[in-house]
Amino acid sequence: MADNIVKVELCMGSSCFARGNSSVLSAIENFINENNLEDRVELEGHLCLGRCNTGPHVAINGKEYSELDEDNVIDLLKKELE
Ligand code: FES
Repeated sequence: MADNIVKVELCMGSSCFARGNSSVLSAIENFINENNLEDRVELEGHLCLGRCNTGPHVAINGKEYSELDEDNVIDLLKKELE
């Protein structure tokens, strides 16, 4: 694996959080811990983007994704880490 840092930004607005970003956040944190990726993944939260109806929103390295869940977010993260 290369040493690039992957930046993950999660919408922590109440709608995205209720729609699934709370589980997405736990899944990402578990994935980081289990794989010792603390130095490779930068995790940030941000406020509502005003696009709540297509949430939950997550941006990975600046690419925005909507309607994510805890499984597909890990797949996307793995791809970015390759
Ligand atoms: S709460 Fe995420 S877009 Fe509004």
